[in-house]
Amino acid sequence: MIRPILRMGDPRLLQVSQPVTEFNTPELEALITDMFETMHDADGAGLAAPQIGVLLRVVIFGFEKLDRYPDAPEVPPTVLINPVLEPLTTDLEEGWEGCLSVPGLRGVVPRVARLRYSGFDAQGTAFTREVDGFHARVVQHECDHLDGILYPMRVKDFSKFGYTEVLFPGHAGGDD
Ligand code: NI
Repeated sequence: MIRPILRMGDPRLLQVSQPVTEFNTPELEALITDMFETMHDADGAGLAAPQIGVLLRVVIFGFEKLDRYPDAPEVPPTVLINPVLEPLTTDLEEGWEGCLSVPGLRGVVPRVARLRYSGFDAQGTAFTREVDGFHARVVQHECDHLDGILYPMRVKDFSKFGYTEVLFPGHAGGDD
């Protein structure tokens, strides 16, 4: 079921979400199914459970080729629950971000360039990945949602924050 996506200004987006304690349940499966349907409907690269008003530490992400990020490599469809992120470098990389909860806008955000993330899938199986580039950026963006952080809070240079259609005339559109 496609669920409404909360937009910036909704206080639920500023909450710290709770860890998942029970895996492999119909409720968790239904949540994840809804999240993928909602993300695909909105043509997004990722989605966090609090964006549909569920304050649990669940994020999904993954995409093949995105019109909006033509240089981004593919990322496999991933369910990441109770994530832990460990930076593998102190180097920061700047890159453009958008968010389905902040429609119509884009901003440049500095993020850790390389990191290890670990967590659980829907069945409760633990896994770990080391990633860099856009994959690392998406994970950081989505996991920020679990702590009530929206990307505009991380923008440092407000000359690189604005409306997509003004920043990128003729842009393909889409909001995340
Ligand atoms: Ni977002």
